[in-house]
Amino acid sequence: MKSSELLAKIKLHGKPPRHVAIIMDGNGRWAESRNLPRTAGHRAGMEAVREVIEGSIEAGIEVLTLFAFSTENWQRPSIEINALMGLLRLYIQKETDRLRRMDVEVHVLGDLSNVDSTTRKAIKDITTETVGGSKLRLNLMISYSGRKDLVEACRLFAEEVSKQEMSPEDLNEEILSERLYTAGISDPDLLIRTSGEFRVSNFMLWQIAYTELSIVFTLWPDFSRKDLFSAICDYQLRDRRFGRIAGQRIPR
Ligand code: IPE
Ligand code: IPE
Ligand code: MG
Repeated sequence: MKSSELLAKIKLHGKPPRHVAIIMDGNGRWAESRNLPRTAGHRAGMEAVREVIEGSIEAGIEVLTLFAFSTENWQRPSIEINALMGLLRLYIQKETDRLRRMDVEVHVLGDLSNVDSTTRKAIKDITTETVGGSKLRLNLMISYSGRKDLVEACRLFAEEVSKQEMSPEDLNEEILSERLYTAGISDPDLLIRTSGEFRVSNFMLWQIAYTELSIVFTLWPDFSRKDLFSAICDYQLRDRRFGRIAGQRIPR
């Protein structure tokens, strides 16, 4: 099916996922299969990011969260880390105007303490320059770890307890959620992982409790809006029960 036909199908069904998260994986293998350096795969992956942002707006998605760099990725060879940070910076600088024109609000979530100051400056610029974008909220997860996010939220809460702004009995799911990087954003409805890896690699561990999963074999640089649309069509056929039985109304 063509991407326009898939999009028509999504619209006909209605109710696209509000929040789509993607573990963009397979850049290295894409490059290696072409006898290219791994960084060429990361560069090619940037084009897929653009496709997916445009496709998300067309499909009516409200929040798109892209896993761009994990805390664990700091363990890669420094030549690859430097290339990745350089590309990230380039992407941010190149795309800021386009994203603003497309009415996309960009947020960068993660522990930026290890990120070099030039990249941090670019991140600050794109977030301030796209504030108020109302077509799509784009979360770029950079130096992100699901476990660290949870630990940090617990630490924040503990500090509030020690200052007597909170008491231990106040802790509940909502209070914890409000202290995560994703505070105020609904949980992902759909999580896509490319490159056929069946694992979550420390991504949004709390937030994906009831997320629908879609593992695709396409390597990230080959991922197109057509792939996004078919994952959404597949999602629209899922029966999300949230622990209930089929046919029970979900109060949402
Ligand atoms: C995803 O592609 C990008 C990042 C993790 C930064 P990889 O670099 O992990 O590519 P593979 O998995 O080695 O093919
Ligand atoms: C997950 O991919 C992180 C990102 C896509 C940014 P990895 O390639 O780092 O994950 P593993 O090592 O295969 O689990
Ligand atoms: Mg990988």
